[in-house]
Amino acid sequence: MSETPAILGGPKAVQHDLPVWPAVTEEIIDAVVAALRGGKMSETRDEGYNAQLEEAFREYHGCEYAIAVNSGTAALDAALFAAGVEPGDEVITAPLCPGYVITPILHLNAIPVFADVDPRTGCIAPDEIEKHVTKSTKAVMVVHLAGHPADMDPIMAVAAQHGMKVIEDCAHSQGSLYKGRKAGVLGHISAFSLQSVKNMPCGEGGIILTGDREMYERATLLAHHPARLKQCLEMEEYRRYCDTGLGWNYRMHLLSAAIGVVQMKSFDEAMALRRKNADRINEAAETLPGLRATYVAPDCVHTYYQQMLTCDAAELAGLPLDGFLAALRAEGVPCSRIGPPVHEFGILQDRRFYGKGCPWTCPHAQGERSYTDLTFPNIDRLRASGFVIGSAGGFVTDDTCLIGEVIEALHKIAAHADAIREARAGGTPVST
Ligand SMILES: Cc1ncc(COP(=O)(O)O)c(C=O)c1O
Repeated sequence: MSETPAILGGPKAVQHDLPVWPAVTEEIIDAVVAALRGGKMSETRDEGYNAQLEEAFREYHGCEYAIAVNSGTAALDAALFAAGVEPGDEVITAPLCPGYVITPILHLNAIPVFADVDPRTGCIAPDEIEKHVTKSTKAVMVVHLAGHPADMDPIMAVAAQHGMKVIEDCAHSQGSLYKGRKAGVLGHISAFSLQSVKNMPCGEGGIILTGDREMYERATLLAHHPARLKQCLEMEEYRRYCDTGLGWNYRMHLLSAAIGVVQMKSFDEAMALRRKNADRINEAAETLPGLRATYVAPDCVHTYYQQMLTCDAAELAGLPLDGFLAALRAEGVPCSRIGPPVHEFGILQDRRFYGKGCPWTCPHAQGERSYTDLTFPNIDRLRASGFVIGSAGGFVTDDTCLIGEVIEALHKIAAHADAIREARAGGTPVST
């Protein structure tokens, strides 16, 4: 029998330090100093560190065009614009995503429409998309949630059938594979975040990838200023807007780009380490009553931006998920519940964005759309038993003892689930 769980007064399982993510290495510091010594504070053209980072992304993904911008949100704005999303258009996405995934849709005065997910991965379910297609639907925005790719072949098929563009949100999934192909080159255009906890952090930043010349020009037009537009745009239809652009200034800072260039070099290695540790935790979870490993489709490679496990209270002596997570936290293992889905947030419940009801009351919008009575059975199922283990950045560490301690924490709770449930139900003091 394992030691007494920490929540019942035993020692914490986790004694080693949790990994720090991102790790600020000497190589990163040297690159930033070298960039500062370069004498430039901004790259207004497609040049220098921005160009190097774009080249590295193009090469890594085997994609023709890359555009660096200053956040994942900016990348989504530009990708949606590139996809031709206009006021009143509808964009189908899944509500199991961080809140800022939907604001880029609203920025374009377009309307988010939600479809249910695959309950195993939390990614949009291909067979749920068609139910929501209307004559206003312009695009599908797919989040490869937590690092597991969505099932892209049927998604692309349904999109082709209805003339919709597919935007991949790769904020969680840089390096993930679907049928041997990298996330980011599976749809028409993709948006990455390089923010501090992402798979390849460079402070703040984003990248857009596409193989389509017109989408590249449109995304550049939204995201960049005249110097770069005059340098990069070739299509007459868009060159006429070079003096102003058609949007914002989303330029990436060259120090972020310089960090990104360094991070690319060790990216695969970092992801392999995270995957190795996640695999160990998965193997252990499979041997314990009530716990299930992360679902990974046979033709996919997960990057474990977040590691989702499942806990079945019935098999764990009736210990509910919240009790299980409280016990895990007491052992020193960071963990959290999944969600809530974004349609429950105030912005959509109140339909409040620009003011005056826009975009929902925009004259181009078709019909009434409310978010107050939506139900998503698969999201409910996933959230009832799913949880995320690990802190931001996951377990990118070669400390095998630490992973052993995380596994020991799971063993302790599984072995004492009955006592933990009773202590919580009976008001026996428990540490949380
Ligand atoms: C799925 C998803 N999309 C988009 C974003 C936005 O990225 P950024 O924070 O770089 O704007 C995030 C950020 O966490 C995200 O998790």
